Amino acid sequence: MSVRAVVLAAGRGTRMRSDRPKVLFEVAGRPLVVWVVDAVIAAGVDDVTVVVGHGGEAVAEILPEGVGIAVQEPQLGTGHAVMAALDHMGDVAGDTVLVVPGDTPLLRPDTLAALLEAHSGSGSAATLLTVTMPDPTGYGRVVRRRDRVEAIVEERDASPEQRRIGEVAVSTYAFEGAALAGALREVGSENTQGEYYLTDAVGLIAGRGGVAAMAGPDPDEVSGVNSMEQLAGVSALMRRRILGRWMDQGVWVQDPARCYVDASVVLEPDSRIYADVHLEGRTTVGAGAVVGPGVHAADSVIGPGARVWYSVLRSAEVGEGAEVGPFASLRPGTVMGPGSKVGSFVETKAVALGAGSKIPHLSYIGDAAIGEQSNIGAGSITCNYDGYQKHRTVIGDRVRIGSDTMLVAPVEVGDDGWTGAGSVITRDVAPGSLAVERSPQREVPGYAARRARKAEREGE
Ligand code: UD1
Ligand code: CA
Repeated sequence: MSVRAVVLAAGRGTRMRSDRPKVLFEVAGRPLVVWVVDAVIAAGVDDVTVVVGHGGEAVAEILPEGVGIAVQEPQLGTGHAVMAALDHMGDVAGDTVLVVPGDTPLLRPDTLAALLEAHSGSGSAATLLTVTMPDPTGYGRVVRRRDRVEAIVEERDASPEQRRIGEVAVSTYAFEGAALAGALREVGSENTQGEYYLTDAVGLIAGRGGVAAMAGPDPDEVSGVNSMEQLAGVSALMRRRILGRWMDQGVWVQDPARCYVDASVVLEPDSRIYADVHLEGRTTVGAGAVVGPGVHAADSVIGPGARVWYSVLRSAEVGEGAEVGPFASLRPGTVMGPGSKVGSFVETKAVALGAGSKIPHLSYIGDAAIGEQSNIGAGSITCNYDGYQKHRTVIGDRVRIGSDTMLVAPVEVGDDGWTGAGSVITRDVAPGSLAVERSPQREVPGYAARRARKAEREGE
């Protein structure tokens, strides 16, 4: 006997009013359907089949390896979708089939495991997860007779009296495989939508041996995403859940409503996250680091004790105790050593910046290696692109690059080298040397007075 999961993800998602398949929309950086598949796997099932239809190829592409894919074409309802899954899965008699919708990313593995346990203990051919909603509008209502589940009636097909029922089905069920397959063969499409309803299979099974119900947790957990509005609402709940977990681990979060931390991000204890911070992808923040306000970091490492504010980081590494911002842009391949600094209005790309080195103001530094304890004066630029190719700039240890130096790559400044302010450096600078490239300053004494007399003469 195996537990085999079916994730329903073929729906059009018409209410999203988007060309993109609904289940590909992301919550905390992870597509809706991936949240569900991960939860199902974590609940301990033996295999997973995802039913895809609308935009199926794109959905299949992002699913974890080992997940089966059943194609439902056309999409004729939730019952029809499960039939497509069963066609793909082969014989399920004797197995438990867990059915879960693909658009409820907040559903927890624990809840699914509890449903499976309730099912195996119930002796029923089906167990459904139910939730009691203050406003059940839009959901299938659970109709009971003398406490026993009798049917699930869709909102559209419900009588006014049934519409007052607060207990609803949330497309999450455990079935005995043979009973499910048998009931689905008998389900018709005589309803207001002309669809094959999975809920009708539940009704058929109820008439035969009884259907158990497990009252679910709080309604938030089963919130489905059917519209952009609901996507934003579910994202906010997920954000709260993710940040709650980090706060439990000792991360200081200034305002959880204004921090956007992907599920894949790792925050170490005693890091501090100010408001308006977006941390995405494989980003990590070390212990004691202070991030924000106003940071967008993707796939980046912020080392222990580092300070980053009002800045954008993409595939960048900020070393221990290093400082970034305000208003810096760290592009891919920026690797900052311990105690280094990238300051205001500085853009970096593919730069290794050694320990203690600084690029404090108004610079573009790209395709460069900078040693330790060097300083790049304000306004300096690596001229790395000659219109055809990119070239490297290499700067040694303890170098002083004067303000407004143009380093025309390929070029190298040796250890302890200096450049004079305003120089255009086109040739290598030997270790310990000063290179100055600028015309000698000329002075014209008495110029102001002469200029004034000329103006007077000419009646300016
Ligand atoms: C369904 C349930 C309803 C429940 C509600 C919320 C039925 C008939 N109704 O209604 O009882 O309260 O979900 O959980 O089951 N899907 C397919 N193929 C299809 C149609 C849908 O794969 O042909 C998938 C969708 O992608 C989605 C899930 O099934 O993940 C639910 O579909 P949806 O259209 O949202 O169902 P509701 O009308 O909300
Ligand atoms: Ca000059």
